[in-house]
Amino acid sequence: MPGVRQAGRVTEQRRVAVWRDGAAVAVPAGEPVVAAFDQGLGRGDGVFESVAVVGGRTPHLAAHLARLSRSAALLGLRDPGDAAWTELVTAVLSGWDAGAEGVCRLFLTRGLGDGTPPTALALLAPVPPETLRQRAAGLSVVSLGLGLPADFRARAPWLLGGAKTLSYAVNMAAQRHAHDLGADDVVFTSLEGLLLEGPTSTVVWAAGGTLHTPPADTGILAGTTQARLFAAAEADGWPTATTAGTVEDLHAADAVWLLSGVRGAAHVHTLDGVRRGDAGLSRRVRALLAG
Ligand SMILES: Cc1ncc(COP(=O)(O)O)c(C=O)c1O
Repeated sequence: MPGVRQAGRVTEQRRVAVWRDGAAVAVPAGEPVVAAFDQGLGRGDGVFESVAVVGGRTPHLAAHLARLSRSAALLGLRDPGDAAWTELVTAVLSGWDAGAEGVCRLFLTRGLGDGTPPTALALLAPVPPETLRQRAAGLSVVSLGLGLPADFRARAPWLLGGAKTLSYAVNMAAQRHAHDLGADDVVFTSLEGLLLEGPTSTVVWAAGGTLHTPPADTGILAGTTQARLFAAAEADGWPTATTAGTVEDLHAADAVWLLSGVRGAAHVHTLDGVRRGDAGLSRRVRALLAG
């Protein structure tokens, strides 16, 4: 992205703020802020968001807070509310270099459990260089099965479909598996071979003059970037649809992207080892997201 540069030494650029006694408290990034018995640490029992910081601001914070609140409700977690999150975000943004792109992570865990208050904190760090590279250069992606029927999570609330939980070990393992295969990222598929999502992104493809994305009732996370792109595309006369597609549909598509708030629209240039183009559509997608 032109005009955007990475912040200086990463460790100097990190910020942390924690919610304590009804207020956001900034703490040095190297200092411990979570008790060892926190359920988020021991069990991944919590939810999170990754929010893009551009020009020293968080232009899409509201959509992330709405999703955080939905995720918290699905886990039965007490959400401290938008005012508290906004205070935490303001605390970590204080003194941040507005010329640097950042990623602000919001964490909400069950805390120590037994009815004690949840743990809420905000972290801010520069966007990793590899993320910026992938945004510009595109991605080699492999499809990997998740082993669940596409309609299963809609009837299995204990699987927390649609919640952005802290339990991302499987997502990270899938990305490492992709790296072992020489690829950058992953598209998960259902037991029947239907498209789901990436480990940290939403799948979008262009075909037949329409933008497509898999249906949310498969238990995937509702992407804020995909929602923003589809609203802008509709307003620009580019039809959109939720479509139960397959990997074959991606091979046949004019273009495929993995969308997420921080990386943006990264086009898929290789799928399961097969090179593919984007029909020049990535520029339009980026312009719609920037608008
Ligand atoms: C599993 C998953 N799907 C989709 C997304 C994309 O969501 P967003 O566009 O709101 O960043 C993410 C992003 O973190 C994700 O982790």
